[in-house]
Amino acid sequence: MKLSTAIALSLISLFVPALAAPSPAFSGVPMHVSGPVVPGGPNVELDGTAEEIVAKLDKLHPGWQKEQTTTGKRSLETRYWRGTPKCERIGGNGALEHHIQSGINHLNNLGERQCGAPARDCSRVSCSHGSAIFLCSNRDHPISVPCNRIGGAAQRIKDDCTNRTFTFFGYYVDGQWENTDGYTVYIRDGVC
Ligand SMILES: *[C@@H]1O[C@H](CO)[C@@H](O)[C@H](O)[C@H]1NC(C)=O
Repeated sequence: MKLSTAIALSLISLFVPALAAPSPAFSGVPMHVSGPVVPGGPNVELDGTAEEIVAKLDKLHPGWQKEQTTTGKRSLETRYWRGTPKCERIGGNGALEHHIQSGINHLNNLGERQCGAPARDCSRVSCSHGSAIFLCSNRDHPISVPCNRIGGAAQRIKDDCTNRTFTFFGYYVDGQWENTDGYTVYIRDGVC
């Protein structure tokens, strides 16, 4: 390689930006969830929001929630999260607190099942009445996270980032929190 070519190439690389962390589009891609329907059972792969996954599990095995060994909240290991949630509106209209709370409950009910997001992209892990929770992989590979950990992070974002000015529709919450493992949880508006 001629020296001038080498210099030209290294100059080009200076101007190629590092891959930016993705931020969630309004719709996102469906979440992929993997885990047994009941403890000890075979793994089942499902796609959809937490609300849709809960409905699918209800069909596959009515009463599955009573057979879970680990239900509800998981302690959020805050040392793996960067600082505190960043509260700002990403989308157009924002998410409403009461709909986000029901999404958090669904994510917590999914327990230790793995909720996934594709490489450098975002999945819509929960969506109800236009209020959504997204999980984005900031890495070049897909990620999966225990669903209730996303529920715990969303709870913290909700607690920190709810705007206490009452509106006709309720209280709005918008924010994001980045985990040091290369993913970010977002609360914003969504299509549903
Ligand atoms: C909270 O909501 C009110 C009413 O919509 C708005 O005027 C205000 O700017 C918001 N505050 C923040 C910090 O976003």
